[in-house]
Formats: sequence, structure tokens, C-alpha cells
Amino acid sequence: MKKIKLAVIFGGKSSEYPVSLHSTASLLRQINRERYDITMIGISQTGDWYLYQGSIDDLEHDHWLTHADNRPIGFACTKKHHGFFLLQEDVPSIPLEIDCVFPVLHGKNGEDGTLQGMLELMQLPYVGCGHMSSAICMDKEMTHIVCERAGVPCAPYMAVYEHQVTDEKALYEQAAEQLKVPFFIKACNAGSSFGVHKVHDFQEFQTALTDAFYHDGKGKVILEATIEGFEIGCAVMGNHELFVGSVDEIETSQELFDYEGKYEMLNSAIHCPARISKELFAQAQDLALRAYQAMNCKGMTRVDMFVTKDQTIIFNELNTIPGFTATSRYPSMMKEAGIEFPDLIDRLIDLAME
Ligand SMILES: Nc1ncnc2c1ncn2[C@@H]1O[C@H](COP(=O)(O)OP(=O)(O)O)[C@@H](O)[C@H]1O
Ligand SMILES: [Mg+2]
Repeated sequence: MKKIKLAVIFGGKSSEYPVSLHSTASLLRQINRERYDITMIGISQTGDWYLYQGSIDDLEHDHWLTHADNRPIGFACTKKHHGFFLLQEDVPSIPLEIDCVFPVLHGKNGEDGTLQGMLELMQLPYVGCGHMSSAICMDKEMTHIVCERAGVPCAPYMAVYEHQVTDEKALYEQAAEQLKVPFFIKACNAGSSFGVHKVHDFQEFQTALTDAFYHDGKGKVILEATIEGFEIGCAVMGNHELFVGSVDEIETSQELFDYEGKYEMLNSAIHCPARISKELFAQAQDLALRAYQAMNCKGMTRVDMFVTKDQTIIFNELNTIPGFTATSRYPSMMKEAGIEFPDLIDRLIDLAME
């Protein structure tokens, strides 16, 4: 069988750069090398693209940029060649032969539709959601608008644009009245809980607002009513025919599932399958499917939700390129549903090339 020429893109100009390195290392260790010829493309935190030819360990521990044989990469959509090029000094650039791309990038410039649009221009099939659903899933206000329209229950919210904030006190009071205190402030376009805060008073509101705008980078945040309860997630895969994985549950003693909780499991634990009734489990899977379809997701997405105190489910957000280490939530939920990690990788690539 002819091997599939797969480009794995890692790193990225995003605050989730370190998460991408871990996800990518796991994927590269588990992928079936008999099925794929792998090209590793790294993006530095300053946005430089390189062909990387070093070890997985150096990639994972962020030493990949020190390799002398890294070569700059460019891209083009010319009549002769669509795709990536190896840039060389004084000699013509060499086109890279690639059949499919697996972007293992989280957050800004990787998961938000920008890269997906670029890959579409280059006519390269890629794993995961298309440019539009990636962009909508990344933007917490757009997610609310589309999901609510589709009848997916979401927390009450307000979107706030930086240029409209003239009186912080008045804004706080409006939010306190509409959403009740404490409420959440979240960067609209971020992930891994960067720029997410639970606000209990005006002073906290002011610092949280500044931080949320900082992490958003596009001048938009959302304020959201606090949902009392606990968080669950569900893994969904597919283009048209959808496969729903298991449902997991987050146990945390913190006010929110923050970066340390997510990646170091500080004061947090994940239970897969979730310790909920059969009925609630099925409802969670159904809601995850509805959100996936409402957003026109393709390939894969992890759908995050809350179980409220009165045992109803409220949707929170979609992660179109979820954490992808062998122990990350999306692969774990798929494993629980019978799909092992290497098989999951194959299926996602097959879906991309469909
Ligand atoms: N409305 C809410 N009610 C309660 N907790 C929330 C709410 N919104 C966010 N959180 C907490 O903050 C965390 C991060 O928020 P989330 O919307 O998932 O953003 P991110 O994209 O950074 O993961 C969630 O995992 C949850 O713990
Ligand atoms: Mg989240």
C-alpha cells in the first residue's frame, strides 16, 4: 500500500503553544509509521514556519528550534503547485509533496479558522473542522448566537466590545443585574482558560476585564452567568455520519477548571465515563451531537457542557482541536467508546481525505 504523505503542524503563535507540543509528541509516538510518511512542520511562537527533522523528545521539550537543520517553509497557490515549499537561498524553492495535513495547533492562528482557510486555498485536505465552523467555535459570542438559534441551551450572556466600554462601573452594574454576581468574564477568542475569571465584585471585575481583553486580542469578551454544577464533555467524530464517544466528568475543587487544573491536574480529576445516570449520559451525547451539527463541525470536536444542580445539561463550548495526548480527554472518551489512539488518528485522517 502506498504511504499517505502526512504533514503534522505543531507549535503556533498562540498562548497554547506548549499544549500543542505535548499533543504533537503523543500523536507522533502513536501514529502508525507503516501507513504514513511524516513531514513535521513547526511554527515558532513568533510565527516562523520550519521543516523540522529532529527527535520527538526535542519537539516535546521545546528544543526543536535549536536544530541547525530546520529549514524555512513557505506556501503558495500557483498554477504549478499548491501547497508548502521548502525555501532555499539562491536556488528555486522545492515543493513538498503532501496528501493530507494534521494541524495539531490549539487556539489562535491554528484552531480559529485562519490556518484552515489557508489550507483550503492550498487545496490540501486537513483533519478537523472547516474554516467557518473553526472560526465560529473559537469565538464565544458567535458560538452563543449559532447554538441558541439551533435550540441548544446556553448560559445567559452579554458580549462586550472594548471600544464600547466607556463606564466600567455602569457595565458592572448592568451585568450584575442581568447575570447575577458572581458571573464569568471570558476572552472571546482564547482557550485553556486564558482570560477566564469568576468575578465577585467590581474590583475583581476591573482586573478581569483587562486580562480578558488582553488574552482575546480582538477586543471582545463575554460576560456569562455562573452555572452551578459540574462540567462534562463528549467526544464527537465524523463528517456526515457521526460517531459519539463517551462522556467524561471534571471533578475540581477550584472555582473554575483552570490551566493548572487542565494540564497538571492540580486540584482536579477527570472521570471517564462520567459518574452520571444513564439518562443524563444519553442526554449529554444528544446535546453534543446537536451542537456539533449546529456548528457544521467536521472531523472531530470535543463538546463541553455543564450538569446543573437540578440535573439539566447546559452547553458551554466546542473545542475543534482538543488536547491530543494519549491521556487527553478527547482520545480518552474515544478509547472508552472502543477506539484506541492509533486507530483514532487513522480514522481522523480518513475523514479528512474523504
Ligand atoms: N458560565 C460558567 N459557569 C461556570 N463555570 C464556567 C462558566 N464558563 C466557564 N466556566 C469555567 O471556566 C472554564 C474555562 O471556560 P471555557 O468557556 O471552557 O473557556 P476555554 O475556552 O478557555 O476553555 C470552564 O472549564 C469552567 O470551569
Ligand atoms: Mg473550555
